[in-house]
Amino acid sequence: MKKVIVSLLLGLGVLANANAQGDVEAGKTKAATCAACHGATGHSAIDTYPNLAGQHADYIVKQLKAFKDGSTRNDPVMSPMAAPLSEQDMQDLGAFFASQPSTPSDAPAASEGGAPAAPAPAAIVGDAAAGKYLYENGDESRSIGACIGCHGKEGMSDVLIYPNLDKQHPEYIEKQLKQFKEGARDNNYAMSQFAAPLTEQEIADLGAYFKDPAAVAKAAPAKAKAVVTVVGDVELGKAKSATCVACHGTDGNALVAMYPKLAGQHEGYLLKQLQQFKSGARDNAIMAPMVAALSDDDMKNLAAFYASQTTSKVAKPDAVNEAGRKLYFGGDSVRGITACAACHSPVGDGMAAAKFPSLANQHPDYIKAQLEQFRSKTRANDANAMMQNIAIKLTDKDIADLTAFIQSL
Ligand code: HEC
Ligand code: HEC
Ligand code: HEC
Ligand code: HEC
Repeated sequence: MKKVIVSLLLGLGVLANANAQGDVEAGKTKAATCAACHGATGHSAIDTYPNLAGQHADYIVKQLKAFKDGSTRNDPVMSPMAAPLSEQDMQDLGAFFASQPSTPSDAPAASEGGAPAAPAPAAIVGDAAAGKYLYENGDESRSIGACIGCHGKEGMSDVLIYPNLDKQHPEYIEKQLKQFKEGARDNNYAMSQFAAPLTEQEIADLGAYFKDPAAVAKAAPAKAKAVVTVVGDVELGKAKSATCVACHGTDGNALVAMYPKLAGQHEGYLLKQLQQFKSGARDNAIMAPMVAALSDDDMKNLAAFYASQTTSKVAKPDAVNEAGRKLYFGGDSVRGITACAACHSPVGDGMAAAKFPSLANQHPDYIKAQLEQFRSKTRANDANAMMQNIAIKLTDKDIADLTAFIQSL
């Protein structure tokens, strides 16, 4: 499965790379004005100033544009630096810094370096092993995606608009996480969402992890992954499912494309849907009478039964829909569309504890219908209008592309 993710992400990287066209030599000349803060080769001596050496060119260009237009980043130091840069300047600077080795042979030891002021004593001491665990697993119960899914193993990301975090100053990483959390740095993709629930301790833990991810990898045992508890009774649920068979199939693999498959869907998500069909929060004329007579226990048991079944595969399309793939993994920063992968996972299996549904192998007709319903607000039972806010920005073509792409997950 890892292999699949990596190859998909690599594919996206290739796509994103297509518009990089900077000139390394020209960039080197233009970088003279940046040297005072970022170092001549992109290794900054000041902890809260980012290293740029070896960073993805596309990411550097994207940040320079953001500082210039003020849309998502405002920094009293960088904004005036970016203001006079032309598109070509940005491309050249991106190409130059990306071409520099992230670990220079003459790198100053971490303890040296010309930091101008003595660093403030850290109020909270980070735990590197806890940081590594959070980085690799996220926290489903608080809807925090696993950082590794986008930023890669030990912070080396394959997707060119996702920054590398390895070789970055931990202090800078912590500062950025705080900015995302507080909204000072805005990012519609995922970071604002994931940083919001982070505690100060967790931010310190993540910073501690990035002091030396490779060392932590050797030393630290991972904590056991939290087990999502099954609340309902599978056998009682199976007995209750007789009235559902006509539409959802005997094992929850609906044969008719307009009826959703329930097999293998997350239990917590299924239970939420049943409760909301009953309360009317999810307003549906077909499902409402089906759940009207169900007790709380019936719903728990039905959810447990369907979650325990195995999802049947959908027919995979011959070719992967490229536009759909780009939106699914990268979202669209200009239109403010969050990447679907951030919540539904890179392989489409959602997040059980967060009640983010699995999309992989669901009937395409049903996926399309739900995106349209969220867009028109006919379906409005998503917490914080998470899906409605995304769907409202999708065109008919986006929905067709996404539906086609999800079919290949
Ligand atoms: C006076 C100091 C200073 C100078 C000169 C300067 N920068 Fe910066 N730069 C900063 C600081 C501080 C930040 C971090 C801002 C923040 O915390 O959001 C930054 C951030 C950046 C980032 C974002 C990196 C990331 O990982 O997100 C890029 C890209 C960048 N600078 C490029 C440049 C380029 C190119 C130049 C020269 C044209 C330049 N900077 C000149 C201080 C400077
Ligand atoms: C769905 C993909 C995704 C996930 C998951 C994700 N990030 Fe990010 N992250 C991004 C993107 C995209 C950016 C660049 C935002 C921008 O362009 O301003 C970013 C930026 C950052 C930055 C700023 C780096 C810099 O050079 O300025 C930090 C630090 C960071 N992420 C840490 C994390 C941590 C810690 C987690 C896990 C809790 C995480 N990210 C999860 C996509 C993701
Ligand atoms: C007459 C056909 C029919 C019957 C019988 C039926 N359903 Fe449904 N079910 C549907 C349709 C249609 C939808 C999609 C509604 C929509 O478009 O929002 C649905 C949606 C659902 C969903 C939401 C799935 C998701 O991915 O969000 C659940 C859960 C569900 N049904 C459970 C049940 C259970 C349990 C029973 C039996 C007690 C049942 N259904 C009986 C037609 C039916
Ligand atoms: C911020 C998190 C988040 C993001 C990003 C997100 N979703 Fe969702 N999605 C959800 C949640 C939560 C639900 C379930 C809402 C509910 O509780 O009924 C959902 C439901 C869905 C459903 C209905 C599934 C079903 O079984 O009924 C589809 C289809 C879907 N999302 C597709 C997408 C696509 C395509 C994208 C990207 C364009 C996307 N989502 C981005 C959180 C997200």
